[in-house]
Amino acid sequence: MSNVKTVLVTGGCGFIGAHFVRYLLDHTDWRVVNLDKLTYAGDLGRLHGVDAGDRYQFVRGDIVDRSLLSDLFRQETPWAVVNFAAESHVDKSILDPWPFLQTNVMGVQALLEAARRHNTDRLIQISTDEVYGDTEGQEPSSEDSALQPSSPYSASKAAADLLCLAYQRTYNARVLIVRCCNNFGPFQFPEKLIPFMISAALRGNDFPLYGDGGQRRDWLFVEDSCAAVLAVLEKGPLGSTYNASAGSLRTNLEVVHALCGVLAEEGGLNQSELLGRVRFVKDRPGHDRRYEIDARRIRLELGWSPQVAFETGLRQTVRWYLSHRAWLNQVMSGEHRAYLEAVYTRGWGLG
Ligand code: NAD
Ligand code: TYD
Repeated sequence: MSNVKTVLVTGGCGFIGAHFVRYLLDHTDWRVVNLDKLTYAGDLGRLHGVDAGDRYQFVRGDIVDRSLLSDLFRQETPWAVVNFAAESHVDKSILDPWPFLQTNVMGVQALLEAARRHNTDRLIQISTDEVYGDTEGQEPSSEDSALQPSSPYSASKAAADLLCLAYQRTYNARVLIVRCCNNFGPFQFPEKLIPFMISAALRGNDFPLYGDGGQRRDWLFVEDSCAAVLAVLEKGPLGSTYNASAGSLRTNLEVVHALCGVLAEEGGLNQSELLGRVRFVKDRPGHDRRYEIDARRIRLELGWSPQVAFETGLRQTVRWYLSHRAWLNQVMSGEHRAYLEAVYTRGWGLG
């Protein structure tokens, strides 16, 4: 038997999960098993060049499937689980919350139970700053702030966090939680703000900003996020929760303006023509105005800090999308087009 640790990464074909699989293979000597259902958001192409072998294995499956988890945990005896698997888009949760509750709550319960029954050393739940709700006019949220989620997505993530904490208290479950702010970088599905707007720019479409575009988000480059999760995995005391943020708060309008500048420089597009395409459209229902989290704990206790400035990360991201236009077109499936129609053409159509 080899002594090499196995880490089960769930949702490893998604945006952050796939970066994390590569990050683990590059920065540790551990074995990685990637369990992913391959929903519309999952893409094996994100792991192109990562071949099955001694250090990596892909398993297609659903984290809600308890018998699959039982077999997998028995076979692989993972040292740790890092759960990225989720339905992750707020707008989609507004249109249909059901799959969010299934994966983000029942899936986490199934993972917690499997990890408990198989004495897994630690389970890291990847959570979000959105569980704290709207922080407009308030101090940045600390890990001990109240959970006040606003959307079906953030409510499902908060429910998962509470389940983790309940498992810890009731069963001494070996869990940790990481709450990240908005991530960005290559390979992000073009439903989220930055890749959505890049895709719109390349297709000659308008830039639809919800409401007045004055909502603020904190943007963390995905590699920095991976480093934060690895720091927690390696050094976090069991039972801890860590916020991970960039300290790079910007309004959505500022993000789109910055994007126009980089697209002009890197893609040869006309900046003033791009700026003229900004449109203020019907607001997202329940839209949180600001998320801001206090990340002092992870900095002081684990020595993590973000390394990539927003402007640097944005340039790298734009360059990546400019040279991967085929990927953008390929992931714009029929299902995704129906969603675009509901939000952007029918203005949510919620009655
Ligand atoms: P994503 O939507 O890009 O990827 C999710 C992945 O999970 C996909 O590969 C999908 O196939 C898989 N998946 C979905 N349901 C599954 C199921 N039932 N069983 C197995 N696999 C399933 O998501 P992301 O943006 O990479 O986010 C990853 C995690 O980080 C999520 O938990 C999300 O809540 C959290 N998070 C994301 C951000 C962000 O800005 N993207 C910010 C904070 C927290
Ligand atoms: P998003 O990337 O969906 O992340 P989240 O809602 O989880 O923060 O959206 C980021 C911000 O951009 C959010 O305030 C909503 C806004 N937004 C728009 O104004 N227009 C859009 O087309 C999209 C996708 C987002």
